[in-house]
Amino acid sequence: MERPATGEGTGPALRRKPLSPTAQSIHLTVNGVSKRLHVEAWTSLLDALREDLGLTGTKKGCDHGQCGACTVLLNGRRINSCLTLAVMKDEAEVVTIEGLAQGDELAPLQKAFVEADAYQCGYCTPGQICSAMGLIAEGRAKTRDDIREFMSGNLCRCGAYPHIVAAIEKVMKESHS
Ligand code: FES
Ligand code: FES
Repeated sequence: MERPATGEGTGPALRRKPLSPTAQSIHLTVNGVSKRLHVEAWTSLLDALREDLGLTGTKKGCDHGQCGACTVLLNGRRINSCLTLAVMKDEAEVVTIEGLAQGDELAPLQKAFVEADAYQCGYCTPGQICSAMGLIAEGRAKTRDDIREFMSGNLCRCGAYPHIVAAIEKVMKESHS
């Protein structure tokens, strides 16, 4: 069975298996672009983004809600996309790491991560940056310790934490000034 098209402007579809008869059609707005896709009832939002839409910037670390590598913004709030079923998010707005820059202009957090040398291998970085976007929008963090606490769901195996916190603190202060 030919798998249905996933929508205009999508990346390469990586999922190869034919869909089951119980697959469902959902609509998402991803990085400002309307996407219709067909997913299994058990497909996580993470797999839908990566495998159906070709948005591989969002990373799969543990696939169990423990590392934060899969963090995206859903209706403006940060979530672990590996713990979220795509079918439950019909009509949601999703922002991934690919949606943060404006053309060639990096988002402030992306720039700050580069300037602060806030990554080594970079695997956790998309999740760190999306989570930090959510953190700043929440407005709860006031201190470095707050940042550490509220970013504690985003692990970095390379141990770049001091630089990650510094990058987030810089943007947080700028956004409040
Ligand atoms: S891949 Fe989702 S929390 Fe680790
Ligand atoms: S930079 Fe390597 S896991 Fe964070």
